[in-house]
Amino acid sequence: MTPFPPPRGGAAPVTAPRPGEGTSRRLGWKDPSFRRSLALFRAFRHEQDDPEACYSLLARDAVDQVEAYDGPVAGRTVLDVGGGSGYFTEEFRRRGANAFLFEPDPAELGGKPPAAAVVADGYLLPLRDGVADVTFSSNVLEHVADPETFLSELARVTRPGGLIYVSFTNWLSPWGGHEWAPWHWFGAERARARYVRRTGRPAKHTLGENLFAVHIGSTLRQVRARDDVTIVSARSRYWPFLAEAVVKAPGIREFATWNLLLILRRCPS
Ligand SMILES: C[S@@+](CC[C@H](N)C(=O)[O-])C[C@H]1O[C@@H](n2cnc3c(N)ncnc32)[C@H](O)[C@@H]1O
Repeated sequence: MTPFPPPRGGAAPVTAPRPGEGTSRRLGWKDPSFRRSLALFRAFRHEQDDPEACYSLLARDAVDQVEAYDGPVAGRTVLDVGGGSGYFTEEFRRRGANAFLFEPDPAELGGKPPAAAVVADGYLLPLRDGVADVTFSSNVLEHVADPETFLSELARVTRPGGLIYVSFTNWLSPWGGHEWAPWHWFGAERARARYVRRTGRPAKHTLGENLFAVHIGSTLRQVRARDDVTIVSARSRYWPFLAEAVVKAPGIREFATWNLLLILRRCPS
Protein backbone atom coordinates (compact mmCIF):
# COMPACT_ATOMS: atom_id res chain seq x y z
CA MET A 1 0.00 0.00 0.00
CA THR A 2 1.29 3.45 -0.83
CA PRO A 3 1.77 5.87 2.09
CA PHE A 4 0.56 8.74 -0.09
CA PRO A 5 -2.61 9.50 -1.98
CA PRO A 6 -2.27 9.02 -5.74
CA PRO A 7 -1.30 12.15 -7.70
CA ARG A 8 -4.17 14.54 -8.32
CA GLY A 9 -5.77 13.93 -11.70
CA GLY A 10 -4.57 10.33 -11.69
CA ALA A 11 -1.67 8.86 -13.57
CA ALA A 12 -1.63 8.54 -17.33
CA PRO A 13 -1.95 5.00 -18.63
CA VAL A 14 1.36 3.50 -19.60
CA THR A 15 2.55 0.63 -21.69
CA ALA A 16 4.69 -1.07 -19.11
CA PRO A 17 7.77 -2.96 -20.26
CA ARG A 18 8.65 -6.27 -18.65
CA PRO A 19 10.65 -6.02 -15.41
CA GLY A 20 14.31 -5.24 -16.01
CA GLU A 21 13.70 -4.52 -19.67
CA GLY A 22 13.97 -0.76 -19.31
CA THR A 23 12.23 1.61 -21.68
CA SER A 24 15.06 2.97 -23.80
CA ARG A 25 13.63 0.97 -26.72
CA ARG A 26 10.45 3.05 -26.51
CA LEU A 27 12.51 6.18 -27.22
CA GLY A 28 14.31 4.46 -30.04
CA TRP A 29 17.83 4.71 -28.61
CA LYS A 30 19.98 2.90 -26.17
CA ASP A 31 21.79 4.23 -23.14
CA PRO A 32 24.68 4.75 -23.70
CA SER A 33 24.77 5.69 -27.36
CA PHE A 34 26.03 8.59 -29.47
CA ARG A 35 22.53 9.35 -30.63
CA ARG A 36 21.22 9.69 -27.10
CA SER A 37 24.18 11.78 -25.90
CA LEU A 38 23.91 14.04 -28.93
CA ALA A 39 20.20 14.61 -28.28
CA LEU A 40 20.93 15.46 -24.64
CA PHE A 41 23.81 17.74 -25.59
CA ARG A 42 21.64 19.61 -28.10
CA ALA A 43 18.92 20.00 -25.49
CA PHE A 44 21.42 21.34 -22.91
CA ARG A 45 22.51 23.99 -25.38
CA HIS A 46 18.94 25.30 -25.39
CA GLU A 47 18.41 24.98 -21.64
CA GLN A 48 17.95 28.74 -21.23
CA ASP A 49 15.71 29.47 -24.23
CA ASP A 50 13.71 26.21 -24.18
CA PRO A 51 13.83 24.73 -20.66
CA GLU A 52 10.63 22.77 -21.25
CA ALA A 53 12.12 20.75 -24.13
CA CYS A 54 15.47 20.35 -22.36
CA TYR A 55 14.14 19.16 -19.01
CA SER A 56 11.37 17.02 -20.48
CA LEU A 57 13.96 15.10 -22.49
CA LEU A 58 16.28 14.84 -19.49
CA ALA A 59 13.41 13.58 -17.35
CA ARG A 60 12.43 10.90 -19.89
CA ASP A 61 16.05 9.84 -20.12
CA ALA A 62 16.53 9.65 -16.34
CA VAL A 63 13.33 7.66 -15.79
CA ASP A 64 14.44 5.31 -18.57
CA GLN A 65 17.64 4.78 -16.58
CA VAL A 66 15.71 4.05 -13.39
CA GLU A 67 13.52 1.54 -15.25
CA ALA A 68 16.55 -0.06 -16.90
CA TYR A 69 17.92 -0.88 -13.44
CA ASP A 70 14.72 -1.54 -11.55
CA GLY A 71 11.92 -2.38 -13.97
CA PRO A 72 8.75 -0.35 -14.56
CA VAL A 73 7.99 2.38 -12.04
CA ALA A 74 4.22 2.02 -12.50
CA GLY A 75 2.56 1.58 -9.12
CA ARG A 76 5.76 2.30 -7.20
CA THR A 77 6.30 5.05 -4.64
CA VAL A 78 8.96 7.44 -5.92
CA LEU A 79 10.47 10.42 -4.08
CA ASP A 80 12.09 13.18 -6.12
CA VAL A 81 14.33 15.01 -3.64
CA GLY A 82 15.49 18.49 -4.67
CA GLY A 83 13.40 18.11 -7.78
CA GLY A 84 13.21 21.81 -8.69
CA SER A 85 10.07 22.60 -10.68
CA GLY A 86 9.10 18.95 -11.02
CA TYR A 87 9.89 17.73 -14.54
CA PHE A 88 11.12 14.40 -13.16
CA THR A 89 8.18 13.99 -10.80
CA GLU A 90 5.80 14.60 -13.72
CA GLU A 91 7.58 12.03 -15.88
CA PHE A 92 7.42 9.40 -13.11
CA ARG A 93 3.69 10.12 -12.77
CA ARG A 94 3.18 9.88 -16.53
CA ARG A 95 4.51 6.34 -16.26
CA GLY A 96 2.13 5.47 -13.47
CA ALA A 97 4.34 5.94 -10.40
CA ASN A 98 3.09 7.50 -7.19
CA ALA A 99 5.72 10.20 -7.35
CA PHE A 100 6.24 13.06 -4.91
CA LEU A 101 8.35 16.15 -5.13
CA PHE A 102 10.36 17.46 -2.17
CA GLU A 103 12.02 20.81 -2.79
CA PRO A 104 13.28 23.25 -0.13
CA ASP A 105 13.27 26.40 -2.27
CA PRO A 106 9.82 27.76 -3.22
CA ALA A 107 11.47 29.84 -5.96
CA GLU A 108 12.76 26.64 -7.60
CA LEU A 109 9.27 25.13 -7.51
CA GLY A 110 8.14 27.93 -9.86
CA GLY A 111 4.59 28.94 -10.63
CA LYS A 112 3.19 25.52 -11.58
CA PRO A 113 4.67 22.82 -9.35
CA PRO A 114 3.26 19.30 -9.55
CA ALA A 115 0.26 18.61 -7.31
CA ALA A 116 1.11 17.73 -3.72
CA ALA A 117 4.66 19.10 -3.95
CA VAL A 118 6.22 19.45 -0.50
CA VAL A 119 8.53 22.27 0.57
CA ALA A 120 11.08 20.27 2.52
CA ASP A 121 14.81 19.97 3.00
CA GLY A 122 16.50 16.79 1.82
CA TYR A 123 18.42 16.60 5.10
CA LEU A 124 15.21 16.13 7.03
CA LEU A 125 12.38 14.68 4.97
CA PRO A 126 8.96 14.59 6.65
CA LEU A 127 8.60 10.86 6.00
CA ARG A 128 8.81 7.65 7.96
CA ASP A 129 11.61 5.15 7.34
CA GLY A 130 11.47 2.97 4.25
CA VAL A 131 8.45 4.54 2.49
CA ALA A 132 9.97 4.71 -0.98
CA ASP A 133 10.55 2.06 -3.62
CA VAL A 134 12.70 4.54 -5.54
CA THR A 135 14.41 7.64 -4.17
CA PHE A 136 15.60 9.94 -6.90
CA SER A 137 17.89 12.93 -6.66
CA SER A 138 19.21 14.57 -9.81
CA ASN A 139 21.97 17.16 -9.60
CA VAL A 140 21.44 18.07 -5.96
CA LEU A 141 24.47 16.57 -4.18
CA GLU A 142 26.83 19.34 -5.32
CA HIS A 143 24.41 21.89 -3.85
CA VAL A 144 24.46 20.55 -0.30
CA ALA A 145 27.20 21.30 2.23
CA ASP A 146 27.04 17.84 3.81
CA PRO A 147 26.56 15.17 1.10
CA GLU A 148 27.00 12.29 3.57
CA THR A 149 24.09 13.39 5.75
CA PHE A 150 22.01 14.03 2.64
CA LEU A 151 22.71 10.47 1.41
CA SER A 152 21.85 9.07 4.85
CA GLU A 153 18.44 10.68 4.62
CA LEU A 154 17.86 9.29 1.10
CA ALA A 155 18.77 5.83 2.42
CA ARG A 156 16.56 6.19 5.50
CA VAL A 157 13.39 6.85 3.50
CA THR A 158 14.08 4.04 0.98
CA ARG A 159 12.74 0.57 1.75
CA PRO A 160 15.25 -2.30 2.06
CA GLY A 161 15.93 -3.49 -1.50
CA GLY A 162 14.73 -0.16 -2.93
CA LEU A 163 16.67 1.82 -5.51
CA ILE A 164 18.42 5.15 -4.95
CA TYR A 165 19.34 7.26 -7.98
CA VAL A 166 21.82 10.02 -7.21
CA SER A 167 23.60 12.12 -9.79
CA PHE A 168 25.77 15.19 -9.48
CA THR A 169 28.10 17.35 -11.51
CA ASN A 170 31.51 16.93 -9.95
CA TRP A 171 33.66 20.00 -9.39
CA LEU A 172 36.40 19.28 -11.95
CA SER A 173 33.90 18.41 -14.68
CA PRO A 174 33.84 20.91 -17.56
CA TRP A 175 30.42 21.92 -16.15
CA GLY A 176 31.52 21.83 -12.50
CA GLY A 177 31.34 25.62 -12.19
CA HIS A 178 27.76 25.65 -13.50
CA GLU A 179 26.98 29.05 -15.08
CA TRP A 180 30.62 30.16 -14.71
CA ALA A 181 32.09 26.95 -16.18
CA PRO A 182 34.68 26.16 -17.43
CA TRP A 183 36.44 29.16 -15.89
CA HIS A 184 36.14 27.56 -12.43
CA TRP A 185 39.25 25.59 -13.41
CA PHE A 186 41.14 28.86 -12.91
CA GLY A 187 39.52 29.72 -9.58
CA ALA A 188 35.93 30.02 -8.44
CA GLU A 189 35.99 33.67 -7.40
CA ARG A 190 37.62 34.78 -10.60
CA ALA A 191 35.20 32.70 -12.68
CA ARG A 192 32.19 34.10 -10.86
CA ALA A 193 33.40 37.70 -11.23
CA ARG A 194 34.02 37.07 -14.92
CA TYR A 195 30.48 35.77 -15.39
CA VAL A 196 28.96 38.85 -13.74
CA ARG A 197 31.18 41.17 -15.79
CA ARG A 198 30.45 39.44 -19.10
CA THR A 199 26.70 38.92 -18.73
CA GLY A 200 25.71 41.84 -16.50
CA ARG A 201 23.62 39.32 -14.54
CA PRO A 202 24.09 38.20 -10.94
CA ALA A 203 25.54 34.70 -10.72
CA LYS A 204 23.16 32.11 -9.29
CA HIS A 205 25.84 30.11 -7.53
CA THR A 206 28.50 30.97 -4.97
CA LEU A 207 31.08 28.39 -4.00
CA GLY A 208 30.66 27.41 -0.36
CA GLU A 209 27.11 28.78 -0.17
CA ASN A 210 24.95 26.93 -2.68
CA LEU A 211 27.60 25.10 -4.73
CA PHE A 212 30.24 22.78 -3.29
CA ALA A 213 33.34 21.15 -4.74
CA VAL A 214 32.32 17.48 -4.76
CA HIS A 215 34.81 14.99 -6.19
CA ILE A 216 34.24 11.53 -7.64
CA GLY A 217 37.07 9.67 -5.85
CA SER A 218 36.18 10.87 -2.36
CA THR A 219 32.45 10.39 -2.96
CA LEU A 220 32.99 6.78 -4.10
CA ARG A 221 35.15 6.06 -1.06
CA GLN A 222 32.51 7.49 1.27
CA VAL A 223 29.67 5.57 -0.38
CA ARG A 224 31.62 2.28 -0.41
CA ALA A 225 32.25 2.66 3.32
CA ARG A 226 28.53 2.94 4.09
CA ASP A 227 26.60 -0.02 5.47
CA ASP A 228 23.11 1.20 4.48
CA VAL A 229 23.60 1.03 0.69
CA THR A 230 25.49 -0.98 -1.91
CA ILE A 231 26.62 0.40 -5.24
CA VAL A 232 24.86 -1.20 -8.22
CA SER A 233 26.54 1.10 -10.71
CA ALA A 234 28.81 4.14 -10.70
CA ARG A 235 28.86 5.65 -14.16
CA SER A 236 28.90 8.77 -16.25
CA ARG A 237 25.30 9.86 -16.60
CA TYR A 238 25.52 11.30 -20.13
CA TRP A 239 28.50 9.64 -21.81
CA PRO A 240 27.89 7.79 -25.11
CA PHE A 241 30.36 4.97 -24.37
CA LEU A 242 32.58 3.55 -21.60
CA ALA A 243 30.17 5.08 -19.10
CA GLU A 244 31.31 2.82 -16.25
CA ALA A 245 34.93 2.49 -17.39
CA VAL A 246 35.63 6.21 -17.20
CA VAL A 247 34.64 6.27 -13.53
CA LYS A 248 37.26 3.60 -12.78
CA ALA A 249 40.19 5.77 -13.90
CA PRO A 250 41.47 7.82 -10.92
CA GLY A 251 42.42 11.37 -11.86
CA ILE A 252 41.01 11.20 -15.40
CA ARG A 253 37.51 10.53 -14.07
CA GLU A 254 37.44 13.88 -12.27
CA PHE A 255 37.69 15.71 -15.61
CA ALA A 256 36.11 13.23 -18.01
CA THR A 257 33.00 11.90 -16.25
CA TRP A 258 31.08 15.20 -16.48
CA ASN A 259 28.28 13.99 -14.22
CA LEU A 260 28.45 10.99 -11.91
CA LEU A 261 25.42 8.73 -11.67
CA LEU A 262 25.25 6.43 -8.67
CA ILE A 263 22.69 3.65 -8.70
CA LEU A 264 22.45 2.37 -5.13
CA ARG A 265 20.47 -0.41 -3.52
CA ARG A 266 19.19 0.03 0.06
CA CYS A 267 20.55 -2.71 2.32
CA PRO A 268 18.27 -4.62 4.69
CA SER A 269 18.31 -2.84 8.06
C1 LIG B 1 20.49 22.15 -10.10
S1 LIG B 1 18.96 22.05 -9.25
C2 LIG B 1 18.43 20.43 -9.77
C3 LIG B 1 16.95 20.37 -9.97
C4 LIG B 1 16.47 19.05 -10.57
N1 LIG B 1 16.65 17.96 -9.63
C5 LIG B 1 17.17 18.77 -11.87
O1 LIG B 1 17.95 17.79 -11.97
O2 LIG B 1 16.96 19.51 -12.84
C6 LIG B 1 19.43 21.77 -7.57
C7 LIG B 1 18.26 21.65 -6.66
O3 LIG B 1 18.71 21.20 -5.39
C8 LIG B 1 17.89 21.81 -4.43
N2 LIG B 1 18.52 21.71 -3.10
C9 LIG B 1 19.52 22.46 -2.58
N3 LIG B 1 19.76 22.09 -1.30
C10 LIG B 1 18.89 21.10 -1.02
C11 LIG B 1 18.63 20.31 0.15
N4 LIG B 1 19.31 20.49 1.28
N5 LIG B 1 17.66 19.38 0.08
C12 LIG B 1 16.97 19.17 -1.07
N6 LIG B 1 17.16 19.90 -2.19
C13 LIG B 1 18.12 20.84 -2.16
C14 LIG B 1 17.77 23.23 -4.95
O4 LIG B 1 16.73 23.97 -4.32
C15 LIG B 1 17.53 22.97 -6.42
O5 LIG B 1 16.18 22.80 -6.72
